[in-house]
Amino acid sequence: MIRRNRILRTSPAIRAMVAETILTPSDFIAPLFIVEGENVKEEISSMPGYFRYSLDLTVKEVKELWSMGIKSVLLFIKCADELKDNKGTEAVNPQGLMQRAIRAIKDAVPEIVVMTDVALDPYSSFGHDGIVENGEIVNDATVEVLSRMSLSHAEAGADFVAPSDKMDGRILSIRSMLEQHSFHKVGIMAYSAKYASCLYGPFRDALDSAPGFGDKKTYQLDYANSTQALKETLMDVQEGADIVMVKPALYYLDVIKKIKDEVNVPVSAYHVSGEYAMIKAAAKMGWLNEEKAIIEALTSIKRAGADLIATYFAKDAVRLL
Ligand code: PBG
Repeated sequence: MIRRNRILRTSPAIRAMVAETILTPSDFIAPLFIVEGENVKEEISSMPGYFRYSLDLTVKEVKELWSMGIKSVLLFIKCADELKDNKGTEAVNPQGLMQRAIRAIKDAVPEIVVMTDVALDPYSSFGHDGIVENGEIVNDATVEVLSRMSLSHAEAGADFVAPSDKMDGRILSIRSMLEQHSFHKVGIMAYSAKYASCLYGPFRDALDSAPGFGDKKTYQLDYANSTQALKETLMDVQEGADIVMVKPALYYLDVIKKIKDEVNVPVSAYHVSGEYAMIKAAAKMGWLNEEKAIIEALTSIKRAGADLIATYFAKDAVRLL
């Protein structure tokens, strides 16, 4: 025996010395669900411990996140039913909830990096990420609205827009729109490798945004494939994406790795609502230790190659570190 592998695992101190992957608060992007009203804090039933907040409480939450060392938030809004249509009218409203939220957050905590979800599903009477014609989600008309939506987020003060719609050509179109209006410092975090996943269920409960018919398989990626994920991510980088994203995270660690090896931009991964719910449910049953499950999951995502992790566990993770 000339190699004793266990030497490097002898004590906590040695293990800490040789640890290759260490989570830090600036790794995390905290998603926030925002609703109309005042002093509203509603727990999402399929995401125990996670809440929808009205704007006033959202601002309070953002202050706390910033004080904990978390550098960025990713905003989602719940749109009232009567404002939903098939054109994204409310999505581009300068006085819309999203636009007001961006302004309120940037006023209260100017340094925090505000990222905004860009897709039509919360605003769509069909619950789809794009405009529907004859039962189909049409690409180019949707891209046009997404570009105007991105512009309105930039005008409100967003630092990054995060298109999660998976339409073709949207990154180029959004970048061009931002350039035309001199938003040279507004970045794009592209959901480039976004899969048609069963793991978004709790999120759709949170925003009441489940598709009214069919599914999202004609635009989101098929989980049987990773080649398309790489192709589309490389295209997004060429079109101007500053950060690319893989979503969900844990079922797609191979995709994170593959993309990290090929691109020269930061890679983010979204540990999505269903991944959160699975840990919460198993912990509630007493079948998993929640704290250990959280840290192992997030460390594994980073080890696979993610530079940033969007996660509902951002605050828990910082407390546990
Ligand atoms: C909307 C969007 C979704 C998520 C982020 N942006 C849902 C979907 O595509 O249906 C999911 C996030 C999560 O599950 O945590 N385009």
